[in-house]
Amino acid sequence: MFNTREDQFANGDIRTHYRTFEVAPLTPHIGAEVRHVDLAEPLSNEGAQDLHDAWMDWKVLVFRNQHLNREQHKAFGRRFGTLHVHPMQHKYRGDPEILTVKTTAKSPYTAGDGWHTDVTCDAVPPLGSMLYVTETPECGGGDTLFADMYLAYRMLSEPIQRFLDGLTAVHDGAIPYIGSYKSTPPPGGYPRNEHPVVTRHPVTRRKILYVNQGFTSHIVGLSRAESRAVLEMLYSHINSTPRLWGRVPWQPNTLTFWDNRCTQHHAVWDYYPHSRYGERVSILGTERPSA
Ligand code: SIN
Repeated sequence: MFNTREDQFANGDIRTHYRTFEVAPLTPHIGAEVRHVDLAEPLSNEGAQDLHDAWMDWKVLVFRNQHLNREQHKAFGRRFGTLHVHPMQHKYRGDPEILTVKTTAKSPYTAGDGWHTDVTCDAVPPLGSMLYVTETPECGGGDTLFADMYLAYRMLSEPIQRFLDGLTAVHDGAIPYIGSYKSTPPPGGYPRNEHPVVTRHPVTRRKILYVNQGFTSHIVGLSRAESRAVLEMLYSHINSTPRLWGRVPWQPNTLTFWDNRCTQHHAVWDYYPHSRYGERVSILGTERPSA
């Protein structure tokens, strides 16, 4: 819990100037628009290091007016690691490293319409995702909300932090992929894995609240009723604390790159019957989430 007003409002480490570009923050702690970087151009090592630093600082980076083909999109992803293949890709033909995010008047659902972290059912979930939106709804809307899960942990009281530290929870792909998306599982089923409820970011070493409504089925070692009550309390903290959030209003040809280890996101479907189209590349994590 914050001890003082100064602590609560401390934003002392805001950085907006990097060697090769500047950023314009969307909020004081999550989300920044990167100025004057053309992702279709080769990225220098210095530029890549700056982007990594800015990504660590801001968690969500937004690049406007980008004109990328699929190979350029994937090449940008590969600057940060190996590309991830989504567990639902067995259902689709096409490039396994590109996840299409398409919503029209005929869509039964829109992907990611609820707070979640991508694919935490995997043993090693993606460390980040890059969504490149090329078509936005004519009526406006279709924004994506992001939540800062460092801050979500930091805003909990110390007794609750102590209670959560050391617990683990199960993350089950069947919840969204079968439950919400009605997708036939691949042979062997969708992934299901246990992760700490509070993780540490492998780069910043800061603590993160790491349960999400999209994938977490239960907390290990608690009764069903206890687990449900604790998870509902944590989800309500995320759902009802606007200070945790940043909002990305898309324009055509915007690419947003989020750190999937310390954020959650929520795609807002407020534009029915209009359409929205994007393609996502995700980068495989380098290790299992750990405390
Ligand atoms: C997702 O990756 O969950 C989709 C996000 C979005 O469409 O804004």
